[in-house]
Amino acid sequence: MKTRITELLGIEAPLILPGMSWISTPELVAAVSNAGGLGILASGPLTPDDTRAAIRRIRELTDKPFGIGVTLLMPGAKENAEVALAEQVPVINFSLGKGDWLVKGAHKYGGKVIATVVSEKHALSAQAIGADALLVTGHEAAAHGGDVTSLVLVPAIAAKVDIPVIATGGFADGRGLLAALSLGADAVAMGSRFATSKESPLHSNTKQAVLERSEQDTIYSKNFDGLWARVMKTPRSVKETRRPMNLLVAFVEASKAARIVKQPIWKILLGMLAMMDKILLLAYFGASVPRLKAATIDGNLDKGVQFIGQTQGLIHDVASVDDIIQRTLREAETLNQTQSALWQK
Ligand SMILES: Cc1cc2nc3c(=O)[nH]c(=O)nc-3n(C[C@H](O)[C@H](O)[C@H](O)COP(=O)(O)O)c2cc1C
Repeated sequence: MKTRITELLGIEAPLILPGMSWISTPELVAAVSNAGGLGILASGPLTPDDTRAAIRRIRELTDKPFGIGVTLLMPGAKENAEVALAEQVPVINFSLGKGDWLVKGAHKYGGKVIATVVSEKHALSAQAIGADALLVTGHEAAAHGGDVTSLVLVPAIAAKVDIPVIATGGFADGRGLLAALSLGADAVAMGSRFATSKESPLHSNTKQAVLERSEQDTIYSKNFDGLWARVMKTPRSVKETRRPMNLLVAFVEASKAARIVKQPIWKILLGMLAMMDKILLLAYFGASVPRLKAATIDGNLDKGVQFIGQTQGLIHDVASVDDIIQRTLREAETLNQTQSALWQK
């Protein structure tokens, strides 16, 4: 199947694995790229040395294009992005920050840059700095989606920009792919769906919890990590998001988290001082790390909190990546033919 995104990125299927911390590991990235989509490595929990090793591991597992995700607001992200440029990673996906230097760096070796956006304003700025494509994240998404649903946000942005759009938030099967293409997107990124695949390192308890829950069972709150974020509804997450975390507790937790993500605390502190207005945000963000790890890695939903999208109501099995990609393409094609036939009548 050919779209502007498959042509731009040199892939066979317009299906993308977004960079999800602790989930989009070299193995899952390579599985998606080998199956014809584009896998994007999550660099959030990685040091620059880890990032370099992960990129090299992906290259051992696949010779297909792949990407790396960098959340520029976070401590250590700039250094990871510099490693990605030095290693000439084919696709760099940045969010929450200014990516003009990434565009310049990647274009020097023929790399492509995708900017993650949740509004028209940011979409236009990303296009102006030379981003090659946009990852447009709707309200349905796991983690940090915007406040407008994909059904409206994707066509609104697609109509305003010339560069290709990848829709994310609410897409988990062929129906979603066909709908996204109709809305003006050129591909979809499926977070919750690929996180619940056989090859995903998401703990089996948490995969099972996704299968048992419906589209109703998520919470969208600013009280978890300081940004509006969607998490799985569990007794623990209901409790965690009832009110904002106390700043002192958040700071102590963030210091612990700094050790977990192997970032020196002075870096976190410097980052905080440099951006006083971001203090709370960084503290909350850091404080959320142990809860996310407990759910994602240990499968402990009594202690942990899991990012998940409304698409959990559309996920009914733990299938292989190849199966997910093939049946998504087949379903979209069959549906397209059925719908075209309707117009003949
Ligand atoms: C378990 C999980 C972890 C995620 N972690 C991150 C992350 O570390 N950084 C990020 O930018 N997005 C993260 N996301 C969000 C995805 O990039 C994407 O925006 C989202 O999954 C799209 O919505 P969907 O789940 O409906 O496909 C995560 C999503 C999931 C399901």
